[in-house]
Amino acid sequence: MAERTKSWEKRLSGEPDELTVDFVESLSVDRRLYKYDIVGSIAHAQMLAEQNLISKSEFKAIKAGLIEIGDEIAQGRFKFDKRYEDIHMAIEAALIAKIGQAGEKLHTGRSRNDQVATDIRLWMRDQIEILQAKLTLLQKAFVELAAEHTEDVMPGYTHLQRAQPVVIAVYLLSFVEQFERDFIRLKNCRSLVNISPLGSGAIAGSTLPIDRKSTAGQLGFSDISYNSIDAVSDRDFCAEFVFDCALIAAHLSRLAEDWIIYSSNEFGFVRIDDRYCTSSSMMPQKRNPDVLELIRAKTGVVYGSLMAMLTILKSQPTGYNRDLQEDKTHIFAASDVVSRSLDMAAAIASNTKFDTGKISARLDEGFLDATSLAEYLVKKGVPFREAHGIVGSLVADCERQNKKLAQLSLDELKKYAARIEQDVYEHLGAKNVVCRYITEGAAGPDQAKRQITYWNKQLSQR
Ligand code: ARG
Repeated sequence: MAERTKSWEKRLSGEPDELTVDFVESLSVDRRLYKYDIVGSIAHAQMLAEQNLISKSEFKAIKAGLIEIGDEIAQGRFKFDKRYEDIHMAIEAALIAKIGQAGEKLHTGRSRNDQVATDIRLWMRDQIEILQAKLTLLQKAFVELAAEHTEDVMPGYTHLQRAQPVVIAVYLLSFVEQFERDFIRLKNCRSLVNISPLGSGAIAGSTLPIDRKSTAGQLGFSDISYNSIDAVSDRDFCAEFVFDCALIAAHLSRLAEDWIIYSSNEFGFVRIDDRYCTSSSMMPQKRNPDVLELIRAKTGVVYGSLMAMLTILKSQPTGYNRDLQEDKTHIFAASDVVSRSLDMAAAIASNTKFDTGKISARLDEGFLDATSLAEYLVKKGVPFREAHGIVGSLVADCERQNKKLAQLSLDELKKYAARIEQDVYEHLGAKNVVCRYITEGAAGPDQAKRQITYWNKQLSQR
């Protein structure tokens, strides 16, 4: 049987089954790495020239050829042929077709194994910055909305039951905190991503004098990897990146869930702008929060990518395995989904109105001030556990009489605890309560204003 036509497959006889061609190709997925593949190759070629492994003029031809190929891909003029399997071979083949023998020297001291690991790291470094910028925009939208509501009170919920009053600003800023941790996680992830595997070759490095620090420096990596076997096998950073995406998605899904509930007729706390709602094909009155529902659902897609990524890594024998090719599908999917959801969330947050009238009209329901009353008793010298019991009985009594705590007379209150005095009324009612929070980070207006000052300063530096 005749040898294969592809130069790197001369060891194999006959052409591959068409099914194999379709099955092994990753070009349809990894073509989006082309820019990184090209800058990585230019750095590698420059290093080869520095090390006299190729001549200066060969380097120049390689560089010019790769830049042309990059332009062709960017302009949609490049013909992707899946028989070249992946973006690395597609570009190398095009380069050889363009510049001839110099192109044949590009892959000196390199394998697709260290090449693809390098490309992914370069891509991820950029993607992390993009996601961080989007997180920052979202945080800014939340801080801006929070600044409008530092005095407005809403119920704080635990178990989705009314718990204690909070100012709306602090509720909103709770998301800014979550997104901040997402930002920091990505920053930490970046430090592990920003290491150059280039020069590790297929698994064992090279007998040629490859200068790994040169390529790492050119590509802006902070260091090189120090074990060639690990460098080509390692995709921990991919799992970590997808995990970071998954937590962003988790946070977005909580926000989506809140606002889907809050925009319902039953709550009526927020009005999502019409631009982010859809209607019903049958019920003419409907304003549905579909965008938020899709943000919530897409979290499942990202979790799927995380599970896929972890499972791909499981039990792989040491060294590079083709299994690793499947990583890209999931890092791309996770980051694409999260990227779009972040954009949507920021747009929605910038256009959502809190209906403070509706919220405050029902603030006296649900005994939001019960804990404040118990703490009032503590200030009067009653042990907390006893105070808790007294207020529990008072609430039960109020429920029987269909009254609020603040509607009880001083005499009625005194029947439960003799130490209660006229000043008790300053501790009742949701609005009074929020102004009495004195702990750092509490959900009152003073703390809200301090938090907003902090975030404005923090976020303006980004
Ligand atoms: N397309 C491959 C990937 O994404 C590139 C490396 C292939 N290496 C190999 N020896 N087959 O992982």
